Amino acid sequence: MTDINGVGENQKKGLFITMEGMDGSGKTTQMQQLKQYLEHQGYKVHLTREPGGTIISEKIRNLILDPEHEEMHPWTEALLYAAARAQHVAEVIQPALQREEIVLCDRFLDSSLAYQGVGRGLGMEEVFRINQPALMDRLPDITFWFNLTPEESFRRKSGRDPKDRLEQQHRSFYEKIYQSYRQLAEENPQRIVTLDASKSIPWIQKMMRCTVDRYIGKLESGK
Ligand code: TYD
Repeated sequence: MTDINGVGENQKKGLFITMEGMDGSGKTTQMQQLKQYLEHQGYKVHLTREPGGTIISEKIRNLILDPEHEEMHPWTEALLYAAARAQHVAEVIQPALQREEIVLCDRFLDSSLAYQGVGRGLGMEEVFRINQPALMDRLPDITFWFNLTPEESFRRKSGRDPKDRLEQQHRSFYEKIYQSYRQLAEENPQRIVTLDASKSIPWIQKMMRCTVDRYIGKLESGK
């Protein structure tokens, strides 16, 4: 597939970290803890999410996730995610990185590659292509993939209500998502760090902190 490590290498400023994984994998809690840790060290951290993060992107989010929009075509969905991302990158992510801040984003491009590219069957290459203008030539520096099997994800989510439109999809859809995240992690080992989401919250947090500390250490020593 497209070498998605190829873009975003120029003019790197700030630190762009994304979190990916199945629903219910615990990434939101981990993100908040990582934010506190980094702020404690004196970094300015911007916490955000996709789809969303700006007024326009949150409106697009409501449009996409509305359970009444069952008839939404997969391409409409993919283009709306890309549109929400374009606004988010231009208005929030890019400016924060230019100010040399750390951006922590709950879901990003890989969600589109997995959910729309594979889950909806549009193809990862094609979905990457429609997202390219939105990326403004910058990919995440680090992506944490919370590796949680679909079975465990369902178990953790049971009882959670109301379900959004995407959460109502069939179980095989989640199996496809899981496999595509696996594939992305295998193909992009320098960017995507796999975390065993069945481990305890402190254990996962420790792994994340070590990874980020190491990355910042390398940046500071100019390697
Ligand atoms: P959300 O409630 O934020 O889910 P989660 O807590 O799992 O992050 O809903 C976001 C949903 O949108 C989630 O089911 C994944 C999906 N999604 C895509 O299909 N494509 C995308 O590009 C993004 C960003 C999210």
